[in-house]
Amino acid sequence: MPHALFTPLTLPNGSQLPNRIGKAAMEENLAAPGQQPGATLIELYRRWAQGGSGLLLTGNVMIDGRAMTGPGGVVLEQGSALEAFRAWAQAGQSGGGQIWMQLNHPGRQTYASLGGLRWAPSAVALDLGKHSKLFAAPTPMTHFDIAELVQRFASSAQLAEQAGFNGVQIHAAHGYLLSQFLSPLSNQRDDDYGGSLANRARVLIEVVRAVRAAVSPGFAVAVKLNSADFQRGGFTADDAREVVELLNQENIDLLELSGGSYESPAMQGRTADGRTLAREAYFLEFAAELAKVARMPLMTTGGVRRLPIAEQVIDSGVAVVGMATALAVEPDLPKRWQAGEARIGELPAVSWGDKTLAAVATMALVRRQLRRLGAGKASKPEASPVLSLLLDRLRLSRLTKRYQQYLAQR
Ligand SMILES: Cc1cc2nc3c(=O)[nH]c(=O)nc-3n(C[C@H](O)[C@H](O)[C@H](O)COP(=O)(O)O)c2cc1C
Repeated sequence: MPHALFTPLTLPNGSQLPNRIGKAAMEENLAAPGQQPGATLIELYRRWAQGGSGLLLTGNVMIDGRAMTGPGGVVLEQGSALEAFRAWAQAGQSGGGQIWMQLNHPGRQTYASLGGLRWAPSAVALDLGKHSKLFAAPTPMTHFDIAELVQRFASSAQLAEQAGFNGVQIHAAHGYLLSQFLSPLSNQRDDDYGGSLANRARVLIEVVRAVRAAVSPGFAVAVKLNSADFQRGGFTADDAREVVELLNQENIDLLELSGGSYESPAMQGRTADGRTLAREAYFLEFAAELAKVARMPLMTTGGVRRLPIAEQVIDSGVAVVGMATALAVEPDLPKRWQAGEARIGELPAVSWGDKTLAAVATMALVRRQLRRLGAGKASKPEASPVLSLLLDRLRLSRLTKRYQQYLAQR
């Protein structure tokens, strides 16, 4: 008998995932001119689809071209041409699984060099020690801005459905805008959107409802949430449980649990508050606890590289196991596992003293694998982190210039 990992999952919307392995979102930074999906990006998703993951979550797609997590990001908003998005959706479905678009607004986690909007719940800048200046001071959002934000999530979701995606995932984790609202450290508002947890979660709930109302019942609506921020005074595991209870009242098809932010990169296995995470499947303990209260299927992502761990996640009552890095190294890991190969999808760890720089180098090393896969090559996980970081910086500075032209022409 196959392990439950390789059995289908029926979602609340009635659709099925062919198995329980989800390729978690990875910002690819592979947009073509005009911040549109390009040929390399589409080829990358074809490879992942052929690799056997039951669900592909795209890297975060921006709901507003004026606010980017990176200069090579894809933007989907009113007026975007949909042809390339259609090709992207088809590539993602070519292996028989589903593809969902992750929708995001960076809020204060946007590089100063990019320009554009710096919305945030409150005027609290990122604290990254000596790297803090990379990020601009944010502007607190007005009620008018909040209404625009909600409307933008809804219209991007509607466009994703028109382009043929099977669903969207609302990014409310990792310290981006919706996650900034949830955390009392970054949300110091004294109106209806700040203070109590119900108030801090208000914008997320408004976004979920607006998105659900804008799409068909068979279209999946998912949320990515932190199981905690792992920062003193931040969003706690108890807060996460309360948000799950609020989301229980809504119509959600999957809730992915992760953790951390730029200030506390728990999604990479490192925390700012000194809490230790499991060495593999970082958030499994939290997810298994939350599975007791959650009415929707759960997914958890972080640190999974080996088949027994993926099976353990599913055996703990979590519906989908998410993997990012492992699938950047071995896009066909699900197929190989199913065929009985005991492969692991591990990148060498970048263990530098400067934690921020190590995190950036790890991301650069992973993104290099994505570019290789999208160009039809094999991954090269043993590549030098220093060289990968340099190449990434050069590429990002070129893309930043291109993005600034795009921004000026809007
Ligand atoms: C290059 C890279 C880009 C990422 N971009 C995103 C993103 O756009 N959205 C998101 O929710 N998580 C993003 N993540 C985090 C992953 O989804 C995941 O939570 C994290 O890498 C931990 O999983 P892993 O140990 O399987 O890699 C990214 C991770 C990497 C390495």
